[in-house]
Amino acid sequence: MKIAIRYYTKTGNTKKLAEAIGSAINVEAKTIDEPLTEDVDLLFLGSAVYAAGIDKRVKEFIESINVNVGEVVNFSSAALIESTYKQVKKQVEAKGLKMSENEFHCRGAFKFVHRGHPDETDLKNAQEFAKKVIS
Ligand SMILES: Cc1cc2nc3c(=O)[nH]c(=O)nc-3n(C[C@H](O)[C@H](O)[C@H](O)COP(=O)(O)O)c2cc1C
Repeated sequence: MKIAIRYYTKTGNTKKLAEAIGSAINVEAKTIDEPLTEDVDLLFLGSAVYAAGIDKRVKEFIESINVNVGEVVNFSSAALIESTYKQVKKQVEAKGLKMSENEFHCRGAFKFVHRGHPDETDLKNAQEFAKKVIS
């Protein structure tokens, strides 16, 4: 199975999740600055909530995909409860791609809130999630 990992981060939390997932499934985690260059069965796409939305660069990345992607698997963090799933799904489907129903989400530190997250447990959970998705 061909798998790619891309993520966008402002403060490093999504990078931690992406790298944890990458080490669990043996795939290099790259930022969305690196376009997909070959078809993949699964794209793990990491993002976070900023001012209640996803960054426009995540939208642009999805819009720019020009290879075949079997399914997009969302992973995200936010200071509040909700994940980026719905917003990413909207972009993915607008592009004509399939959004997996599986997603991973956890709390992400922001200023004084949820300090230390994603923590060791969050990272382990992300790894278990990724292994389950590809099994
Ligand atoms: C500029 C900015 C705006 C944010 N706005 C929100 C928000 O509206 N709702 C929320 O739940 N979290 C918000 N957060 C918290 C982030 O979603 C959280 O810290 C996330 O883990 C950041 O991921 P990153 O480190 O990969 O950028 C905001 C964070 C930043 C830096």
